[in-house]
Amino acid sequence: MAEVGIGLAGLGFMARVHSRALSRIPEARIVAAWSKFPEEHVRFSEFTKKLGFEVEKYYTDLRKMLEDPKVGAVICAIPPRFVGPIAGEIIQSGKPTIVECPPGDTPEVIDRLDKLAEERGAKVMPGHCYRFAPCFKKSKELIDEGEIGAPTFVHFREFVPADSLAKQWPRGSWIWDKESGGPIPTMTVFCMDLARWLLNSEPVSLYATIKWQELPQFGTLGYTLANVIKFRNGVTWVNEFSGSVAQSMGPPMKMEIIGENGGAVVADGPEKVILYSGKEGQKEWPFELARPERWGHKTQDEYFIKSVVIGREEPVVKLQDAKKSLKMSLAILESSKTGREIHFD
Ligand SMILES: NC(=O)c1ccc[n+]([C@@H]2O[C@H](COP(=O)([O-])OP(=O)(O)OC[C@H]3O[C@@H](n4cnc5c(N)ncnc54)[C@H](O)[C@@H]3O)[C@@H](O)[C@H]2O)c1
Repeated sequence: MAEVGIGLAGLGFMARVHSRALSRIPEARIVAAWSKFPEEHVRFSEFTKKLGFEVEKYYTDLRKMLEDPKVGAVICAIPPRFVGPIAGEIIQSGKPTIVECPPGDTPEVIDRLDKLAEERGAKVMPGHCYRFAPCFKKSKELIDEGEIGAPTFVHFREFVPADSLAKQWPRGSWIWDKESGGPIPTMTVFCMDLARWLLNSEPVSLYATIKWQELPQFGTLGYTLANVIKFRNGVTWVNEFSGSVAQSMGPPMKMEIIGENGGAVVADGPEKVILYSGKEGQKEWPFELARPERWGHKTQDEYFIKSVVIGREEPVVKLQDAKKSLKMSLAILESSKTGREIHFD
């Protein structure tokens, strides 16, 4: 069995999520990790010991990790504002990489990475994990099989408790900087990609409102937002996101896709998909999922290692997808600031 040595670039929250996923993939082994902050090496080492493994080598110099012959692929999890030059250096090395999303804070940064990847012939896959989550894969399968006819309307809700977000990104984290959009790009970009992918269509326009809330008890920034997206294929997609709630009301996510035949595909949390059809009543698909599998991280990393790194296939998710979803998330911020509907080219 081929085994790929993985180097982690960035040792924060998402490096831990990927490590959990990778520890369950026999073809992958984390052999190296880079953070320019040595104190993160110590904390990360304590974390991996609990997972049952130790990273062989920690680096404070990214170039040295990229020169390590044991590193066959890289997972890059750096905040959008700082990721550009770091992802650029990884791409320049020619090693295949997953870059967490958004892989830049502007569409221009992503275009530059894309151009570099093309010049170097490097395989770069933006981490749009929702495409790999069992509940969304099943939903897409049902739509593509025509079970509800053409989709006409989608309602998607994702409410994350404020205290969970504060544990994930404590006071002072980059994500609470409202000037840079606060948590909105990170907390919406995955759904934006999901919408384009599920509907096989591109957005025409987007209107959004955001209610911001200082949360002094956590030192974080709450948000509750609603947006309406019109797609070229005529579908209206409505989102409600919140990171201000005390506790999740029901499942953390609910997606309802209404079809032209009156049926509906509903993802009721990540563990259940229901097909409602007038004629046959209702069918259910339950998923028994461990933590890195709920939102697609394990399946995504497994696909990357087996198909992209070992199988040398072109990734199914491209940097241009990440650019389009970032543009939609930035449109949420712009629309909520200006009160106007944003139109896409
Ligand atoms: N796929 C998902 O489900 C998901 C979920 C959350 C976050 N994300 C994305 O993952 C990426 C990373 O987020 P995170 O939650 O791991 O962040 P984090 O703050 O927990 O960790 C970020 C890492 O980047 C390093 N870093 C920060 N600024 C740096 C700089 N200027 N130079 C070098 N290193 C720097 C930090 O030291 C740390 O190791 C973001 O793009 C975020 O949007 C994805």
